[in-house]
Amino acid sequence: VDVHISLEGRGDLAAGIYRQLLEAVLDGRLRAGEQLPPTRELARRLAVSRNTVATAYERLTAEGFLTTRTGAGTFVCTDALHRLRPDPGSRRAPRGGAVRPRRLWREMPGPAPLSAEPATFDFSVGVPDRRLFPFEAWRRLVNRELRLGATRSAEYGEPAGHAGLRAALARHIGVSRSVRADAADIVVTHGAQQAIDLIGRVLIEPGALVAVEDPGYVAARLAFRALGAKVVGVPVDDEGLQVARIPAGARLVYVTPSHQYPLGPPMSLRRRTALLTWAGQHGAVVVEDDYDSEFRFSDRPLEPLQSLDRHGRVVYVGSLSKTLLPMLRLGFLVAPSALQPALRTAKQLTDWYGELPTQAALAQFIDEGLLARHIRRATREYGQRRDRLVAAVTGQLGEWVSIVDSSAGLHVCAKLRPEVAVDMDRVMRTAGSAGVAMRSLRDYCLDGPPLEGLVLGFGVIPTERIDEGVARVATALQAGAAGSAGSAQRRRRDT
Ligand SMILES: Cc1ncc(COP(=O)(O)O)c(C=O)c1O
Repeated sequence: VDVHISLEGRGDLAAGIYRQLLEAVLDGRLRAGEQLPPTRELARRLAVSRNTVATAYERLTAEGFLTTRTGAGTFVCTDALHRLRPDPGSRRAPRGGAVRPRRLWREMPGPAPLSAEPATFDFSVGVPDRRLFPFEAWRRLVNRELRLGATRSAEYGEPAGHAGLRAALARHIGVSRSVRADAADIVVTHGAQQAIDLIGRVLIEPGALVAVEDPGYVAARLAFRALGAKVVGVPVDDEGLQVARIPAGARLVYVTPSHQYPLGPPMSLRRRTALLTWAGQHGAVVVEDDYDSEFRFSDRPLEPLQSLDRHGRVVYVGSLSKTLLPMLRLGFLVAPSALQPALRTAKQLTDWYGELPTQAALAQFIDEGLLARHIRRATREYGQRRDRLVAAVTGQLGEWVSIVDSSAGLHVCAKLRPEVAVDMDRVMRTAGSAGVAMRSLRDYCLDGPPLEGLVLGFGVIPTERIDEGVARVATALQAGAAGSAGSAQRRRRDT
């Protein structure tokens, strides 16, 4: 066959011939059994030495793509492609490639698929309402950054992020969350997730013990695991993480003290103090994830761990994903100065400094008072939804579940009553087919016996759909109870 080969420049000519012949075999231009031109002829056509062509042929022969029959010539091997293509019965993608990720990554659960259509009764957890977002104002501020005159944000930036934003965030969290920080303590990140990743990168030695709340935030737990940590779950009660049960060797403790995720109660002041004392005694770091407590519906917030800490053991993580929108990927961390150089280097090596026009727009958004105004407005709306949801759950699901007390955030948790037996898988399936999106509490559990219950978000569902949505959850619980061997009804009949 007359296979087309083009050689450019004076590089490694044998490698060029090898690569093009291999591609021709792989994409089927050269088929099994076909004869290649003799080395002398191809060398003449390409104006290279015969040795150069022979080197390429020999390599392909050694790799099993070509075979030489004495006296007859060089041919494409009949089984050349079997080497690379999976057998037809295999379910693996033919273009899967020959390389595989490290074992850790093969075992890591993949991202949950996003649903194409929003559910009719959407109790998705941790998602804010995009209809409340002030698009008009945001567009104005981003547009301003995207003009030629605003070239300052078109340059390479500081790994810690936009200086104006760091200053604005420091003021904002100082007022709204009593976090003690100035601009130098802040690193702007792509959401809380990148903050968690950076903290893990600079603090976790391979194999180090990391303690997380159980039940707790799965994405944080997996991020620590991905960094080589051994992650252990520590049970949570009404006061928050049970400090006495943290394993002594833990180097890092990750908590959500403002609004325990997903149960909801704040960590008591007593526990906060105990946790800081424990961290001091054991030389551990505490990561305080304050992801959604800007939406607060009653009582004053307790002091964050970050401001109770007198020894620089706490790294505070904040996110704009709930306060504004998760699509913006805006978050930040507040860290003691001893960690700053490493965190900034880690940030630079990861993605340098994020997206400056968005960061600059947020700085202005805060400085113009728009963030505070948005939070006030959205809190009023979310408060109504929350009241409606709590009333509906108490009224319609009270037989099965009891709401866990909490006063912040965008979701509520309802624990299954201990005397009730319900097949939760069936509940979730029935609810799903009735157009209800919600989460099972079991999904957040790590080491202990799984807690049973429901986690219901009120960020996206319109108030007027809440009662009907909860009615469908009631039907799903009925189906789950009927499907469970020891259902509450049956037990009641028996007694
Ligand atoms: C506990 C917790 N932390 C942080 C986040 C926010 O993450 P990000 O800012 O990366 O969107 C969430 C979102 O669901 C969360 O539940």
